[in-house]
Amino acid sequence: MKRIAVLTSGGDSPGMNACIRAVVRTALNYNMDIYGIERGYAGLIKGEMSRLGTRSVSDMIHKGGTFLKTARCPEFKDKEVQKDAVEALSAYGIEGLVAIGGDGTFRGAKDLCDNFGVRVIGIPGTIDNDLAYTDYTLGFDTAVNTVLWAINNLRDTMHSHDRVCLLEVMGRECGDIALYAGISGGAEYVLVPEIPYDLDQIAASIKKSYLRGKTSNMIILAEGAGNRDEIAAYIKEKSGISVKVTNFGYIQRGGSPNMQDRLLAARFGYKAVELLLNDAESCAVGIKNNKIITVPFSEVNVGSKFDKDLYEIAHILSL
Ligand code: ADP
Ligand code: F6P
Repeated sequence: MKRIAVLTSGGDSPGMNACIRAVVRTALNYNMDIYGIERGYAGLIKGEMSRLGTRSVSDMIHKGGTFLKTARCPEFKDKEVQKDAVEALSAYGIEGLVAIGGDGTFRGAKDLCDNFGVRVIGIPGTIDNDLAYTDYTLGFDTAVNTVLWAINNLRDTMHSHDRVCLLEVMGRECGDIALYAGISGGAEYVLVPEIPYDLDQIAASIKKSYLRGKTSNMIILAEGAGNRDEIAAYIKEKSGISVKVTNFGYIQRGGSPNMQDRLLAARFGYKAVELLLNDAESCAVGIKNNKIITVPFSEVNVGSKFDKDLYEIAHILSL
């Protein structure tokens, strides 16, 4: 393959810029032409792309977000719209595509290969860590550390005031951000969509801990695990203790990628280009037991990788 393109799509994540840089520099190393597509599939269907050189990605490795920009493009589910993307790729003579994004982005990539035979390599870029085939997605580690920073700050003020707090974090239907941040931040309760929880039990336990002199408690709520205000109100009603609610929001999606995510970006980006160079079949790259792996798009969400042991440890250590 001589000419390829790269795009970022769906929610941005820390490390996307470092990954684009890796894709660009690997492609140039192999004397391939590399194009950057703007705003994910939204830009692709309009043919918004331009040639990238080694300097296009200078001073990018440490920046959060994505300089190619990203977008949600619901109309891309339509086969007729996907045809516009295929036409744009062929107008520019693009033979292969690197798509950096989450499960939605991979569904779009799968459609491009299944419906039109476009060669696409997917790189998992999302803070949610919600793809079952890979141990980690790009940006997850940085996001968790950003949440940890927020937990530390909350601990200070909640402890000073003898308060109970609830921090809602992102993750869509996946509880990994909540679980990893909760266990490393020492939260008393971690509520995730993967494991049922009992609010009556939590309210009773908070009340009991108050009576034995533990006056500050932290609940980490994954966004997919319930409504933060309703949960706080219910606990107050049952325990008589009020719960201060914080929604951490988009702050956790930005920021400079940490070492883990920069390393992942380099390894994923390099592998994706190597696959295209060797005319490999379309697939997603991932990481399993610290080895870079490839998996067909049809298998990226097979099974669940939610770590029940880690959840159990979080529970035991919070007592
Ligand atoms: P993420 O990739 O982070 O999961 P989204 O779910 O928003 O984010 O998906 C990114 C984009 O992928 C969507 O805006 C849309 O263009 C495309 N996409 C999502 N689902 C599908 C689908 N079922 N078929 C084709 N394209 C899809
Ligand atoms: O997929 C990343 C993510 O930040 C999720 O955690 C969250 O549910 C969603 O995107 C928010 O999407 P938007 O940016 O469209 O509000």
